[in-house]
Amino acid sequence: MLVSATEMLNKAKAGHYAVGQFNINNLEWTKAILQTAQELNSPVILGVSEGAGKYMCGYQTVVGMVNGMLKELNITVPVALHLDHGSYEHCYKCLEAGFSSIMFDGSHYPIEENVEKTKELVKAAHDKGVSIEAEVGAIGGEEDGVIGMGECADPEECKKIADLGVDFLAAGIGNIHGKYPANWKGLSFETLDAVQQKTGDLPLVLHGGTGIPADMIKKAISLGVAKINVNTECQLSFAAATRKYVEEGKDQQGKGYDPRKLLAPGFEAIKATVKEKMELFGSVGKA
Ligand code: 13P
Repeated sequence: MLVSATEMLNKAKAGHYAVGQFNINNLEWTKAILQTAQELNSPVILGVSEGAGKYMCGYQTVVGMVNGMLKELNITVPVALHLDHGSYEHCYKCLEAGFSSIMFDGSHYPIEENVEKTKELVKAAHDKGVSIEAEVGAIGGEEDGVIGMGECADPEECKKIADLGVDFLAAGIGNIHGKYPANWKGLSFETLDAVQQKTGDLPLVLHGGTGIPADMIKKAISLGVAKINVNTECQLSFAAATRKYVEEGKDQQGKGYDPRKLLAPGFEAIKATVKEKMELFGSVGKA
């Protein structure tokens, strides 16, 4: 059964580790992440962007697929199904469809409007026992076609949003989605620290987990990050393994063209990436 992400993140925060949010794109992605979490006895959050939700034929399809897998694969570790960077409308769609966690990304609205909309959605989510993440300070990089630079959130604004009762908060600290440019200045630990000072025990979320060096990840966890989002890194490892298979001509040997064979190396590559991240984040054995 899907669970809200609140309890697993409060535990992570208290235990000084982070739970990974891994974004899903299709059946192979979902199965790879769930199986790895079960093998490592780790809690996990499956992230679904609006674009990926549309690609997978809508939120009802996603909920059906994930619930089916939890049963058929005998997944017993805590799993949350989470809308990633949701708009106001899509938060309601996911609450309706049976997601166990949502993110309302109101970071592009003026702070007053972000506050109003977040407040309303906190109530709607909590009425259903669903956890909710909010965002302050836009996280840069390319997300569904929009490119932005990594901003640093205003700690006062973070407090305003935190006080609305959100379960965890994404604050921009110079992080961006996708690959980091060579001239990236690194995470702003000063901002992270200031945000946590203002928000008390609230678990903080680090987006753009791909390509952040291990020492920065560890420091971020020590300063209050309890959820780390990873998307691009699974895509890169899936693509590299699939390319290797095709370049070696394996799709032309025997029945190597069978999708169950063709997609197997990419599937294993996602599993390896997820394992590496869970080990780094410290969530192994914490289910
Ligand atoms: P990356 O694609 O950079 O790993 O970021 C993932 C993310 O933050 C999803 O919200």
